[in-house]
Amino acid sequence: MIIKAKNNFQFILFGATGDLASLKLFPAIFDLFIQKRLPENFQIIGYGRTKLNNEEFRKKFKESIKRDYQKHDQELEKIIDKHVFYFAGQYDDQNSFRELKQFCQEIAQNDKYIQIAYLSVPPTVFGPIIKNLGENFRSSKHELRIVIEKPFGVSEDSARKLFNELSDQFDEEQIFLLDHFLGKTPIQTILDLRIQNSIINNLINGRMIDNVKISALEKQGVEDRVGYFDNVGILKDMIQSHLLQILAFITMDLPVTPNIESIHREKLNVLSAMKFTSKKNDVVFGQYENYPVKNSKTDTFCAVKLYIDRRDWYDVPIYVETGKKMPENKTEIEIVFKKMSFQADSVPSNKLIFEAKPGETAKIRLVQENSECPDYTCQDLEILDLEKSIACSSEGCLGDYASLILDVINSRKVFFLNYAEIEAAWRLTDQIFECRNTPSKYREGQKGPDSYQEFIKND
Ligand code: BG6
Repeated sequence: MIIKAKNNFQFILFGATGDLASLKLFPAIFDLFIQKRLPENFQIIGYGRTKLNNEEFRKKFKESIKRDYQKHDQELEKIIDKHVFYFAGQYDDQNSFRELKQFCQEIAQNDKYIQIAYLSVPPTVFGPIIKNLGENFRSSKHELRIVIEKPFGVSEDSARKLFNELSDQFDEEQIFLLDHFLGKTPIQTILDLRIQNSIINNLINGRMIDNVKISALEKQGVEDRVGYFDNVGILKDMIQSHLLQILAFITMDLPVTPNIESIHREKLNVLSAMKFTSKKNDVVFGQYENYPVKNSKTDTFCAVKLYIDRRDWYDVPIYVETGKKMPENKTEIEIVFKKMSFQADSVPSNKLIFEAKPGETAKIRLVQENSECPDYTCQDLEILDLEKSIACSSEGCLGDYASLILDVINSRKVFFLNYAEIEAAWRLTDQIFECRNTPSKYREGQKGPDSYQEFIKND
């Protein structure tokens, strides 16, 4: 079944000349277009401070697509000629927004459409854009949806401030808080599998689990994102939303009726129950050698041990680790099952593994006694890995951003966050952040600083 956009729409992209736009958003929209999921009537309106005319912006759009889609020249010409526009304006200027509204009306080809304002801009300009959008577009007869990406603020307090600004201007249904990890097929599959598959769902029970490890490792460093990254650090960049959300998908109770509200309710319950001991030994911060900002204390590696304050999970350690300049690119969730009392420490554990990067697979690792062993006494073990791709393989595969943009158009919020979840995740993140000291250095290609090896050994 191919899901199509249900509404005519205008997509107003703030920060249209930035990196995210050309690397992710334009290709995502074009994907939806070539898969014929978009309606006849839609307009992409790039909004930015740089003075460009439509033609110059169209060229930029085209260049960002050309990189990947040489086969689709005709479609590219079509989307550009008919659907792509640019509007230059300031973020803190009422007039610009009044004129933008006017511009949107002029280029509309139809009377019935929704408007999507996508904020692909630095958080410092969220405030003025939200206010100006609210004041100028609220009274519009066209429903406006506003999309904001993580990180939502840099602490619980700043997230609350941001959300207050948003809710002064918009109703909750209009607000889409986006974490692109939730658009990834393997991450969505965790929830899909748990909902539809009682074998998997019954296995994911704290009473049977020894520990869980969530890793997101990247070979590259911060490179040209250093301006953003140096103010944030990896704990806030990766763990606060991406990895805690994955953890919530793994450990939440499943509602009996898996509708959007009850999924969010259960996700919030488990996020609120996540605990950090506040012991300095339960967290490691690192920074890679030759990090581009001198004397910076920003973390580029973080590993932390968490618990969940629920009866089934209270004694199951959950290890979350993430870093830049790591030995490999890997995003993986490893669920390690308890051993039986007679099994020696040296016996490998049974595991359930979801890999999102580099491959997209679900794997069950079964340890069995070699059947030739008489009386099961020789502890001659065999490992049986059952592995299945969970990558999308049909014709209509969509990447993370494309799938989430389609959800915004169709107002489907299951893979978006709600504010209460964000607040709970910040509460935990702020506690971890308080334990931060000067991060220890590690070499490029080393998995965290030496103190991380200690951390692992102690456990
Ligand atoms: C972003 C982070 O949200 O996710 C980056 O800000 C990180 O630091 C990126 O590199 C990873 O995303 P992906 O989709 O490439 O795994």
